[in-house]
Parts: sequence; C-alpha cells; structure tokens
Amino acid sequence: MKELNNKSGRAVFGSRFAAIATTVGSAVGLGNIWRFPYEAGSHGGGAFLICYFAFAIMIGVPVLIAEFIMGRGSRSDAMGAYAYFSKAKGWKIAGYLAVLASILITGFYSVVAGWTLEYCVESMFGMVDFSSPEAGHRQFLEMTAGWQPVVWTVVFSLCNFYVLARGVTKGIERVSNILMPLLFVILLVFCVHSFMLPGFGEGMRFLFYPDFSKIDSSTLLGALGQAFFSLSLGMGCMITYSSYFTDKTRLGQTAMTTMALDSAVAVMSGVIIFPAVFSYGFSPSAGPTLVFEVLPNIFYRMAAGGVWSTLFFLLLFVASLTSTISITEIFTSVLTDQYKFSRKKATMTACGIGIVVSILCALSLGPCRSLAIGGTPLFDVLDYVASNILMPLGGMLCSIFVGWVIDRRYIREQLTDNGAYPCRWLRPLVFFLRWVCPVAILLIFLDSSGLI
Ligand code: TRP
Repeated sequence: MKELNNKSGRAVFGSRFAAIATTVGSAVGLGNIWRFPYEAGSHGGGAFLICYFAFAIMIGVPVLIAEFIMGRGSRSDAMGAYAYFSKAKGWKIAGYLAVLASILITGFYSVVAGWTLEYCVESMFGMVDFSSPEAGHRQFLEMTAGWQPVVWTVVFSLCNFYVLARGVTKGIERVSNILMPLLFVILLVFCVHSFMLPGFGEGMRFLFYPDFSKIDSSTLLGALGQAFFSLSLGMGCMITYSSYFTDKTRLGQTAMTTMALDSAVAVMSGVIIFPAVFSYGFSPSAGPTLVFEVLPNIFYRMAAGGVWSTLFFLLLFVASLTSTISITEIFTSVLTDQYKFSRKKATMTACGIGIVVSILCALSLGPCRSLAIGGTPLFDVLDYVASNILMPLGGMLCSIFVGWVIDRRYIREQLTDNGAYPCRWLRPLVFFLRWVCPVAILLIFLDSSGLI
C-alpha cells in the first residue's frame, strides 16, 4: 500500500472506513477490556455504568468533535493545532500538557500490554495453569512481581516502534483495518459463553442494576476519567489522528460511531467479566488485576481453553497496540511538525522516552518498590495523574478553545463539509463546548478534591 498524502503533502487515511477503524482502534484498547471492568467493579457496577454513559455522551462526544475540528482544520499536531487557531502563546501550554500526558500514559499502558503479551505467549505454549482462583492469583502475582514484566514491556514497546516507523498508511491503517473487526467477533463469542455461567444473573444485576446510593464524588471522577481514557480524549490524540482525515470524513458521524463502538466493547467486557467474577468467587473491587485473574478461570473451564486464551490475549495485545500507536503518534507528530525531525528520528525519540518511563513503571510493581510516591507505586501514580487530572484538564481546555476561540462559521464548515450536508446540532454543540463540558469537568474536579 502506498503512503497517501493530501495536497499539502501530509499523510491521509485512505478511506472513510480507515478513518473509523483507526479512531476506533485508538479508542478500543486496554481501557475497555482491562480498565473499565475494574473501575466499574470498584465503583458500584450499575451506578458507575450510568455515570460513564452520561459523561461519554454529554462530555465525551462534544470534546471528541472539538478535537476533530482542531485536527482536521489545522492539519497539524497537538501543539500546532492550538497555534494555528490562536496567536496567544498561552495556549501552547495545552500542547505541552498533551505531550506530557501521552508520555505518562505510555508508561503504565505498555506495562499492562506487556502482561497481555506474556499471557498470550504463555497460553500458546501451555504454560498457564489456572486450576483454582488461588492458583490464578498466585501466578499473576508471580508474573508481575519479577523481572519478566520489564522484558515483556520492552518487547511490546518494540512492536509499537516497528508499526510506527512504517508510517501512517502502511503501519497504523493496515493493522487497524484487519484486526479491529476480528476483536469484535471474539468478544461476542465470549459474551455468549458468559450466558452459561452460574453467576450470570448476579453479574448482570451488578453491571446493569444501578444502586444510586453508591454514587459519590469518586464514582463521578472515576467515570469521567474512564470516559476520557476510553475515548482517547484530552491529550491531543484525536487532534493528531483527525489531522490525517480526508476532507470528506464526516466528523459528527465518526465521533458518534467511535463512541458507540467503544462503549459497546466496554459493556461486552463487563458482560464477560462480571458473571465470571461471581461464578468463581472473586471480588468485583479487586482493582487493576481483576481481569488478569478472572479471565484465566474462564479459559480453564472452556473446551480447548489454551487456544481461546491465546486468541483472546492476542487480540487484546493488538487492541493495545493500536491504542499505544495513537498515544505515541501524539509526540511523534509534534516532533516532525514542530521540530522538523525526520519520521524515523521522531519515532525513535518518542518510543525511546516511552520505553524508559514504562520500564520504571514495570519496576515499581516488582523489583524496585521504592519507585513510589507517598507509598503508591509509580505505575498507579501515573495512571491517576494522567487519567483523572491531565486528561480532563486537557479536555476542558480543548472544549473552551473550540467553543470560545474558534469562529462558529469555521466550526460549521468543518462539520458540514462546507455546507455539503446539513448539521442540525451546531448550536447545542457550541453550547455544550462553551458551558456544559468545562463547568461539569470543573465541578467534578472540585468535588473530588474536597474543595466544594
Ligand atoms: N483509549 C485507549 C484505551 O481505551 C487508550 C488511549 C489511546 C488513550 N490513546 C489515548 C488514552 C489517548 C488517552 C489519550 O485503551
């Protein structure tokens, strides 16, 4: 496949399908399959799901469209997009924040992706023995405590580097087009299997029946952080990707499709995990290790479990790869656009820094427990700071920027392809970007930090 470029020489995704496959590829990842179940599990299940949906629709979609407008409009990277629309230097800070957040996320994300890869390879060679919940737990602890995760994190990061170095069309687009649809199919198979578990009813009740008394400020902040994380928002990732969209890509439609598919995968993951949690005697609030301890029990009880396990972790690995690619692309494109690095040098720099941070994160969970801040391992600190602080902050800045700084006529042009088709929701969109999103994000922030 040839690397496609538009008139200005910038790479573009080859088709409308590719625009969706790549944005969905970025959105769907560990956030849906690993992070969503444990966040939902520790924040009361159904209550969390409702808050999550509310934020994804009311805040996620408008901010996603705002990022698309900035990216496709400026055809520039996360930093360049702010500079393209405003001369005020202050906005550059939003660009720096984006790069910083992307490095922090790469750090812990690659570690979890490394676990995925390790499970995949070990299941392939029949090395996973999960005869009981205790055995699963023990094996997981052994796996994350030693040096192995450091090695797997590095292997994962090298895969990331390989795809990125091949460029936008050949690397990112091709991987997403083929493997994302396959992931959906395999998740469906596991959902069907879930129906047959004894804990199905209890799991479903936990996930879908909201107990509103469980909603507190940490549920709200958790759900907001999850919506941002899952939709890849607030750190310029979607600005960068949409700068590769063609002029014909419909921004509103693409945003809605991305949100719908992304949420569908999160819910499917919940449908797979929670019945198993209750069937096999786990606690839904086990935290980040939940999925890695529960899933092997499912495989163990399936016919040809090793094959399923290999396949599942392989696809999860690919889903994390398409997401990590998008995270690293933020920094890479800043380096090529702003600092005129060659593609190769930029990829090497971005991946190099990413590898160092992720090695530190992997070490903080095992051999070097002293890599902690206030007793919390670096791994968890980076997750918290990036997802619950930097991303909502970045999303707030982006929403204010598009709502207040960019001319409304320009927004209309971007949304309607210069009037080629109608757009009835321009007014509500601008209203949400100006008021609802920034105010809601601010309130949730202040609430969870105890200031109001
Ligand atoms: N959305 C991805 C997931 O759910 C993670 C991700 C990719 C991301 N790109 C991002 C998170 C940019 C924040 C910002 O796994």
